[in-house]
Amino acid sequence: MMPTFVIAIDGPAASGKSSVSKLLARRLHCAHVNSGALYRAAAWGILESGADPTDPAAVTAAAHTLQLDWAPDRQDFTLLVNGQDPGPHLRDAAVAASVSPVASVPAVRDIITAFLRHMAEGRSLIMEGRDIGSVVFPETPYKFYIDASEEIRLSRRLAQGETDSPLSRDRQDSTRKTAPLKIAEDALVIDSTHLSLDAVVQQALDGLTARGLAIPAE
Ligand code: DC
Repeated sequence: MMPTFVIAIDGPAASGKSSVSKLLARRLHCAHVNSGALYRAAAWGILESGADPTDPAAVTAAAHTLQLDWAPDRQDFTLLVNGQDPGPHLRDAAVAASVSPVASVPAVRDIITAFLRHMAEGRSLIMEGRDIGSVVFPETPYKFYIDASEEIRLSRRLAQGETDSPLSRDRQDSTRKTAPLKIAEDALVIDSTHLSLDAVVQQALDGLTARGLAIPAE
């Protein structure tokens, strides 16, 4: 069997992580997991259960009843929460407003971290999020922190038609006690503020090569 690898791509909201992760996954012929979608799916399931997303005890109890399943797609993963596809709800305003408090609850993080590690068993993948290089896969040598100025992140979010403020979520995600958004010590930091998407992908490929990953010929 070919050795597998995990590439961790962390960073604040709207820093360009998703676009970079998807292009890298295509270039490296591996799967892509957006861990933020899992936290959003959990927040949606918890809202559906009627629990108050700002009450950590209620969120903990509801999280333990969530049935999370996944099936590998060709390059992404199909998620199910209690047998339903949460996809159409992941960008709902109610989900956007509750995902940071839900993601700060240790029981939710434990459940999702275990789920994310399970997804990587036996396959190579690129996983984007906030704590992938620091907590979920601290042992991978391939980790990046993609940043961009607040101004650029706000304008990218608006261009995507999103109305919630990525900056206030970042504040909550960076100041929580469990697994806050932070730069892993050994992460390669790429500031995408003044770079094109192709240039960020090229910097990431150069970083992976420098750390010993063989990049397939195009
Ligand atoms: O990437 P996103 O904006 O869709 O993520 C939604 C929320 O999920 C984000 O506000 C913080 C949380 N999250 C997290 O706590 N840990 C991760 N690894 C990924 C996302």
